[in-house]
Amino acid sequence: MPSISLTRHLIEEQRLGHVTPDLRLLLEVVARACKRISVAVGKGALGDVLGEAGGADGSINIQGEAQKKLDVISNEILLEANAWGGHLAACASEEMEHSQQIPDAFPRGNYLLVFDPLDGSSNIDINASVGTIFSVLRCPEGVSAAEDHDFLQAGSTQVAAGYCLYGPSTMLVLTIGHGTHGFTLDREQGSFVLTGPHMRIPEQTREFAINMSNQRHWEAPTQAYVADLLAGKDGPRGQDFNMRWVAAMVGDVHRILTRGGIFIYPWDRKDPAKPGKLRLMYEANPMAMLVEQAGGAASTGRERILDIPPTSLHQRVPVFLGSKEEVETATRYHRQHD
Ligand code: AHG
Ligand code: MN
Ligand code: MN
Ligand code: MN
Repeated sequence: MPSISLTRHLIEEQRLGHVTPDLRLLLEVVARACKRISVAVGKGALGDVLGEAGGADGSINIQGEAQKKLDVISNEILLEANAWGGHLAACASEEMEHSQQIPDAFPRGNYLLVFDPLDGSSNIDINASVGTIFSVLRCPEGVSAAEDHDFLQAGSTQVAAGYCLYGPSTMLVLTIGHGTHGFTLDREQGSFVLTGPHMRIPEQTREFAINMSNQRHWEAPTQAYVADLLAGKDGPRGQDFNMRWVAAMVGDVHRILTRGGIFIYPWDRKDPAKPGKLRLMYEANPMAMLVEQAGGAASTGRERILDIPPTSLHQRVPVFLGSKEEVETATRYHRQHD
């Protein structure tokens, strides 16, 4: 059986009418940018890529987080790679306050690209897994100069979503609405090879992922749900649960796509102005589409993530995603409480 490259996979999807030629080429450009980010991440201490951006004073992004050099490098790689392709109208990123139109020097296309250029960036300096998350939306009809509000479309309208995991191997995981498929970067050939066709998340699980250090800040139903997981065999769930936390959503979601589990970043009282840590447009929505396309579920604890009408580019939401039955159980705890 010959190996199937990302290029061949996308051409076959185009023949089936699942993807337009423009979207296919756009996804190739994003994959190319991810290869460049993978090279930059892989240099580690041998390249000038570790540590904080902005010199001694550091630099704070629009999220209020200290930016790492690789946050900035990855953002620039994605912007540069996508500027001249002709498939995009505009880009929006975790690292930029406002969306950015394609420069006038280049033709504009019909899609909007949203990305978290480097996810889990606190893992960079300890040489642990990080990733890139992306989402593709259609530019609203008749809009020639897309602005921030043109991006505010529910996750259910995404035409593609994916992530690239920079771990022991580099993997691109992609959906165009016809299943979720995983590709491994063949570093010698320089191409992504299909290694995980039609990924499926087991509906049940005994593994959860949450940052337990925030426990005291959670609301009552989240406390009750996690307490029952921790109670194990002797509690109401009647079985032991294992816990894992990569501290990069890409790593946690990849584990869940591989062997099941539930990933939780709930609302907490630490900063009442923020309804959760994770961002709807470039973290929750693309991951929710990938997870649903693999037979899993994604909820805020009360509603389906993909149904949320966004109100701002950097909006945050609570996230419960992964194995379907477990996400439904967690959601039941929250709905019963209301
Ligand atoms: P980013 O590095 O893009 O800002 O995202 C970090 C996110 C996510 O990847 C991860 O699940 C979470 O932050 C980790 O949060 P803790 O610091 O609470 O572990
Ligand atoms: Mn960040
Ligand atoms: Mn992130
Ligand atoms: Mn990030």
